[in-house]
Amino acid sequence: MEELDLRAVAENERHPDKIMNAWKELARGDVLRIINDHDPKPLRYMFQIEFKHTFAWEYKRQGPDEWIVEIKKIKPPAPLSPEQKKKRDELKQILKKLHQASPEELGGVKKEAEKYFKEVEPKELAMAEQELIQEGTTRSEMKRLCDVHLEVIKAHLGAASQRLKLPASHPLTICKDEHKIIKRNLKRLGRILEKLKAAGSFDKVKKEIDTLKELSHFFLETEKHHQREEKALFPRLEAHGIVEPPQIFKEDHLEFMAKKKTLNEIAMAQDKKDFRKFVELLSPVIEFLTKNLEEHIYKEDNILYPMAYETLEKEEWLEVRKKFDAIGYCCFAPADLEKKKGKKKRK
Ligand SMILES: [Fe+2]
Ligand SMILES: [Fe+2]
Repeated sequence: MEELDLRAVAENERHPDKIMNAWKELARGDVLRIINDHDPKPLRYMFQIEFKHTFAWEYKRQGPDEWIVEIKKIKPPAPLSPEQKKKRDELKQILKKLHQASPEELGGVKKEAEKYFKEVEPKELAMAEQELIQEGTTRSEMKRLCDVHLEVIKAHLGAASQRLKLPASHPLTICKDEHKIIKRNLKRLGRILEKLKAAGSFDKVKKEIDTLKELSHFFLETEKHHQREEKALFPRLEAHGIVEPPQIFKEDHLEFMAKKKTLNEIAMAQDKKDFRKFVELLSPVIEFLTKNLEEHIYKEDNILYPMAYETLEKEEWLEVRKKFDAIGYCCFAPADLEKKKGKKKRK
């Protein structure tokens, strides 16, 4: 990693050429880290003009006194044939139309969109979204818009992910199995909340409170799952020019982590609160997690993972798996690791 601390350079000498030259020296996969005393937004625009599709921009800190950005050199996506380009543009148009439709128009536009979505592959959808972001749609806007087009596309996407037949030891199988456990526990969390809402005091829900505490630990431990996605899978996608979808998923992970910590804090401090206050604090956290984490998992199972499968080479999956094992599994363990452990014990 190359680091440039612009705070140490006089304002009139912070010439963009200096940064651009440092960038040109970097090999693919390398990172240029910029530290500045204000948001280097203009630099991002310059990169968009000069180095379109070959960099991934990630804020590591955003003020108030210090801005840190890591700019990674990535492989540009393969050029599209004229026919592919036409298809991509059509898809972007229909996505824009869906997102701009007024409530009265939405029904009609959704019908029109369905015929495009019937044939769209998850990777195509993700790349169209990435281009829209690179053309100015903000990430948070894109997240909101995803809900609209996901509603239309759900039936077709499900079919694509069903076609993925993977061995049990494959990193994606491991992640999908973990998703099943997480989803099961989200449902349990939802049921507990319903029971708490209906009860009037701690005495009536002792069992549920115990389960709630257990589940709050479980969800903290699932952090390892997100870490494996971020540290083993996402960098591989970024190296193939797929930069925006991983960023969106990373932002989700941060939000989930904060909520999971709050859930744990509320659950563990239960005896210090009165019952009504306890349920009042708990409700929005559980409601957030059951809705948003479930949706996040849906997008991973049906868009991100099929896209990753289509993109990474066989050897890369072996590397991903090695990193998975190094990061660890906590409350889950892949079947092949369990078998190995069993054999060792029997010896
Ligand atoms: Fe994730
Ligand atoms: Fe996940």
